[in-house]
Amino acid sequence: MRIIRTKNYEDMSKKAADLIASVVLLKPNCVLGLATGSSPIGTYDNLVKMYEDGNLDFSQVRSVNLDEYKGLPRTNEQSYYYFMHEHLFSRVNIDPKNTNLPDGMEENSRKACKKYDKIIASMGGVDMQLLGLGHDGHIGFNEPNTEFDKTTHCVNLTQMTIEANKRFFNSIDEVPKQAYTMGVGTIMAAKMVIMVVSGKDKAKILKKAFFGPVTPEVPASILQFHPNFVLVADEDALSLVK
Ligand code: GLP
Repeated sequence: MRIIRTKNYEDMSKKAADLIASVVLLKPNCVLGLATGSSPIGTYDNLVKMYEDGNLDFSQVRSVNLDEYKGLPRTNEQSYYYFMHEHLFSRVNIDPKNTNLPDGMEENSRKACKKYDKIIASMGGVDMQLLGLGHDGHIGFNEPNTEFDKTTHCVNLTQMTIEANKRFFNSIDEVPKQAYTMGVGTIMAAKMVIMVVSGKDKAKILKKAFFGPVTPEVPASILQFHPNFVLVADEDALSLVK
């Protein structure tokens, strides 16, 4: 595990974007595993800036996203499909045909998950997986559990996650209770994993995840075993780590 300590959110976003840009430069048709949430927004802004300045080309890049709410149509502003279009896809020259997210409107969970795993396999796996960190240690929507889920599956979101995500909805009742998420096994199979973490509110869980025991009760902790894991975190998030 490598830790890149940054001054603040802006600095974290710039450094994470530089790392991702290097992946794209080295392999123009790479498979980027992408994430949603507030943590990667600045990273995407920096990637867009590099594209606008003519320094980065997404024309051959392929992408798979970590997760999607079950039951939200793509047109819903809170769907992760909508988020990705808003923050990245519509702002760079990535071919929409090369972007993938789980199908949140597929009611049959088995079907939705199998289909998504097939897509990931057909792309030859993920070259770089970008992650945020949930307050309970979740990655994607892999919530604390008694075991690590390997492949894409349907999850019941924990109360903590529903609470944390309610800020994006009009009321807590509107927050979906289920989601489809890539499994921890697929995340661990990515050639490189970059996690962005910012803010004092993440300090406790960051310490627990990366300086505590590896356990499915803190899903992110398994990244301690990843051979090419880079944690890009700001001083606030690292404030409990010496
Ligand atoms: C959601 C997403 C995760 C994300 C997490 C943290 O639950 N499914 O992928 O990492 O939120 O979000 P934030 O970056 O806004 O703290």
